[in-house]
Amino acid sequence: MNSLLQTRGLTLKFGGVVAAESIDFDLSAGERLAVIGANGAGKTTFINMVTGYIKPSSGQICFDGEDITALHPRQIVLRGVGRSFQLPQLFTEQTVRESIELAVAARRSRLSMFNPMSKCVAREEIDHVLSMVGLAERAHDLCGSLPEGHRKLLDVAMALVLRPKLLIMDEPTSGVAADEKHPLMATIMKALSEQKVTAMFVEHDVDIVNEYATRVAAWISGRIAADGPPATVMNDKEVRTVVLGH
Ligand SMILES: Nc1ncnc2c1ncn2[C@@H]1O[C@H](COP(=O)(O)OP(=O)(O)OP(=O)(O)O)[C@@H](O)[C@H]1O
Ligand SMILES: [Mg+2]
Repeated sequence: MNSLLQTRGLTLKFGGVVAAESIDFDLSAGERLAVIGANGAGKTTFINMVTGYIKPSSGQICFDGEDITALHPRQIVLRGVGRSFQLPQLFTEQTVRESIELAVAARRSRLSMFNPMSKCVAREEIDHVLSMVGLAERAHDLCGSLPEGHRKLLDVAMALVLRPKLLIMDEPTSGVAADEKHPLMATIMKALSEQKVTAMFVEHDVDIVNEYATRVAAWISGRIAADGPPATVMNDKEVRTVVLGH
């Protein structure tokens, strides 16, 4: 498998708190990695560094063979790192369809959006993305009226429109009713397989991790305490005590 993302010696301190402690990490194309860890372990901080929202105190991040450590979030998106958020950032007064349109416009040059031919292609693409994430019937609903599960799906759909090679999802099932978590993840993972997108997702629900991850990395106090196949990591002594509370 091809190596897609690497970090070396990635370190970040917030005052006295070490949010990332010399993290060496590799992710290959095609993996589905679940990131687990207690509240405050440094999961979101790691994502913020990889996506350029926070700069590390030291260390290096490479994506697809290029050093992206110093790049801005937008430049990193253009290289192929997509992201969805713990709390989706949606415009509540916009419809679902308008939100996807905006993402398509952000990818294309603004001028091409005024070209009738392009508009037609965009319409087909938007229809396809909406049906892929199961939101076709909600296309004309306002984002502000969506239940949390649909907000999460829309956030993922907007990230997919930017054609990422890697999609990093921060807690895609948080705030979603227990019986909706599995269908939500099944929909997302099917869409990612269809688009051949590598996945990394933060998840607290052990059942979801076991069902959808091919690999698990456990964060404890700013470091990766265990990394490997789900069964191995979930049975690790430190992970069981500190992360799973067994
Ligand atoms: N901007 C910031 N300024 C100061 N401290 C911060 C900042 N962001 C995060 N931290 C601290 O860094 C540590 C890691 O936080 P982070 O948000 O990465 O944890 P997390 O693993 O994502 O937790 P959760 O499961 O609650 O989302 C915590 O101690 C947090 O308080
Ligand atoms: Mg977090």
